Amino acid sequence: MPALEGMSFDHVLLTTRAVRKRLDLHRSVEMEVLRECFELAQQAPTQSDTQGFHFIVVTDRAQREALGDLFRRGHAIYKSLPDGVYGLKHSELKQEATRLRIMNSLEYLADHMHEVPVHVVPCIVGSTAGKPPAGISALMGSVIPAAWSFMLAARSRGLGTCWTNLHLLLAEEADEVLGLPVGVMQVALIPTAYTIGLEFQPAHRRPLDEILHQDRW
Ligand SMILES: Cc1cc2nc3c(=O)[nH]c(=O)nc-3n(C[C@H](O)[C@H](O)[C@H](O)COP(=O)(O)O)c2cc1C
Repeated sequence: MPALEGMSFDHVLLTTRAVRKRLDLHRSVEMEVLRECFELAQQAPTQSDTQGFHFIVVTDRAQREALGDLFRRGHAIYKSLPDGVYGLKHSELKQEATRLRIMNSLEYLADHMHEVPVHVVPCIVGSTAGKPPAGISALMGSVIPAAWSFMLAARSRGLGTCWTNLHLLLAEEADEVLGLPVGVMQVALIPTAYTIGLEFQPAHRRPLDEILHQDRW
């Protein structure tokens, strides 16, 4: 299935949202479509062309239930953390409204994760443990671009995704569920499904000049 007609590359970049409530839980996703997305994602850069990233595509019901359970338990832990979305109240009204919307949407995903037809788990051969900043940058930089490319390719084919990592609050159990070999690290759990409707809007972001620095921070 080629990218949807009329969706320009810029439109895909502008509208690839964290989709939770608009994941169609009742429509299955064809493996051929996913494979196209992964073939595109494989073009992402990796340090020294190591190509150490892997994707685990989880469609088995029992596996999704196990990951959904970990996500729900991770979410319960996350709710008590002071620096997460539940702990960080904003005084500015618009920001606070966004926070409340994310919390509501996150609760929904925690309740329904196991029903999402596909879970995608990007992994990388290696570990961040004990690494200096350059090593962490090289390792994470060798998997996150590929995972994001997958998410963009998915969006351009009418699929929605959401980068999540709360199941990693129980990382050892998550590794066991997925049969991860020693020396391989999983970095996210990306629920993937067709979206209910194709229209998504660009999100509110800070003014560019607040985050763009010339020559020095
Ligand atoms: C590192 C990272 C971790 C995230 N973890 C979660 C998560 O565990 N659960 C979730 O529902 N969304 C998660 N998100 C999605 C963010 O909440 C979302 O990207 C943010 O609210 C902005 O929304 P937008 O991407 O639609 O603009 C995560 C995003 C990133 C980049």
